[in-house]
Amino acid sequence: MQEMWNKKFDREDFLYGINPNIFIKENVSFLKPRSRVICLGEGEGRNALYLAKEGFRVEALDASDVGLMKLQKKALEEETAITIRHTLIENWEPHGLYDGIICSFMHLPKSEQKDMFLKSFLSLQNGGYFIAEFFSVHQLQFQSGGPKDENLLYDLKDLYTIFSNLPCKIYKLCEEITTLDEGAGHKGEASVIRVIVKKERQVLNELLQSH
Ligand SMILES: C[S@@+](CC[C@H](N)C(=O)[O-])C[C@H]1O[C@@H](n2cnc3c(N)ncnc32)[C@H](O)[C@@H]1O
Repeated sequence: MQEMWNKKFDREDFLYGINPNIFIKENVSFLKPRSRVICLGEGEGRNALYLAKEGFRVEALDASDVGLMKLQKKALEEETAITIRHTLIENWEPHGLYDGIICSFMHLPKSEQKDMFLKSFLSLQNGGYFIAEFFSVHQLQFQSGGPKDENLLYDLKDLYTIFSNLPCKIYKLCEEITTLDEGAGHKGEASVIRVIVKKERQVLNELLQSH
């Protein structure tokens, strides 16, 4: 998987463009100004750069060193501070708690999706937000990008089951048809799942695992 993403990002330009994901940008006001935010599966770093320039203290996590090196170079050129976390999400050991967790289009196998959501939830401060966009299983009917393997797509019912069992306030959890214009990688009509949840209180890891 890392090799595949390294190959995809080994290009002059940025596969998903240099502008932040629109849904993330539109909802940045949920986050406390200058708070601590991590972007998961951040690739070449378009959201991280945007958030850092907006004044947030930003970390970018990804499995692809090629993607992260492009981000680091751009951040240096633009005199923007971003902390890089080069790791698989499965091996991520969060450094403290975050005020915001951001994720756009991290294509995890179904067997790993729930763990990613639970780990994200545990890594948020009380009152922190998880804001994300994923391709839904219906993206298979569109030609605008994303995996052609249903196992790497997200099902709204699964997300609803996960978040409705957590002490969080769900601001948005829906599937929508949108038009993507994100570099060469995402272009055209797409079926996405959009998530905005606020953590209400901490729960024990063991309790989460038993859900
Ligand atoms: C479609 S790209 C999206 C990149 C970025 N979020 C964006 O929207 O521009 C998916 C990213 O998820 C990363 N990724 C996929 N599986 C991962 C995993 N298990 N752990 C960490 N990163 C992963 C890939 O390396 C890639 O950078």
